[in-house]
Amino acid sequence: MKANAGDSEQHFDQAEWLGFLAAYRRLTGQDLGAYRREQLERRLRGAVARLGAGGLADLVSRMEREEAVRQQVVSFLTIHVSEFFRNPEQFERLRRHWIPRVRGQARVAVWSAGCANGPEPYSLAILLAEEGLLERSEILATDIDSVALARAAAAEYAEEELAGLGDRRRASWFERQPSGLFRLRAEIRRAVRVLRHDLLGDPPPGQFDLILCRNVLIYFTADGKARALDGLARALRPGGWLLLGSTESLTDPARYGLRPVGPFLYEAGETKLGLSRRGRRI
Ligand SMILES: C[S@@+](CC[C@H](N)C(=O)[O-])C[C@H]1O[C@@H](n2cnc3c(N)ncnc32)[C@H](O)[C@@H]1O
Repeated sequence: MKANAGDSEQHFDQAEWLGFLAAYRRLTGQDLGAYRREQLERRLRGAVARLGAGGLADLVSRMEREEAVRQQVVSFLTIHVSEFFRNPEQFERLRRHWIPRVRGQARVAVWSAGCANGPEPYSLAILLAEEGLLERSEILATDIDSVALARAAAAEYAEEELAGLGDRRRASWFERQPSGLFRLRAEIRRAVRVLRHDLLGDPPPGQFDLILCRNVLIYFTADGKARALDGLARALRPGGWLLLGSTESLTDPARYGLRPVGPFLYEAGETKLGLSRRGRRI
């Protein structure tokens, strides 16, 4: 590592950095070049320290030798902070304005993209259950990190992870295990399908009435964000909604065939060729 003049933090040497990006891509299939570099470097320094590696080259050779190290590095480089009903006002808006749009449908398809260890897709499942729509709903939960996905699939959480839920929901939808962990009830687990998916590289995994992609795009460069948004917009059914995190608005939604319908909420054009002129903002 070396310090670049004027920078408060040290940067990896450019050749070493580019070598790491290429090796990482070869080993994991992921394009780290689409992530904001400062944040990535900070996390990478943490990974080097925690794994006791001698530097980036040493980290790469350990990743080459051991699958477990590869997974650990992927996990170190991603931020998995999440919580049940995170930004509750967003879920309330969905209840009031999106649920009535899909209530008459035979099937409802929802995608939580960048689901971390599961609180977001399970919160959606709880919302749909409370509204009597769970049985006809399919919720896809995807993330790039297999470690986080394994936790999402297990659907078990420590008491402190349920802080956002409130006693009523906790009692209705979770069962306390002998281990002391709280497991989501079978009907909620059954409605959620967990799958590995890279927003920067994989094709859209279906067509959806609603996509939540919250607190993921903030980690991407402008190019990475545009690439991911392109895929997200293509995965929306005409009239479907995309909900972003509460700091993530789009400056040019029309570029993706979307129009704003509410705070951090966008609707796909009715024909995908043009934008719907119908509807008011909520
Ligand atoms: C901060 S969490 C957000 C969790 C949840 N959406 C929320 O708002 O509570 C960001 C998640 O994005 C995932 N992620 C990062 N890059 C990704 C990519 N290229 N494709 C899919 N998921 C990605 C990370 O693994 C992490 O679990």
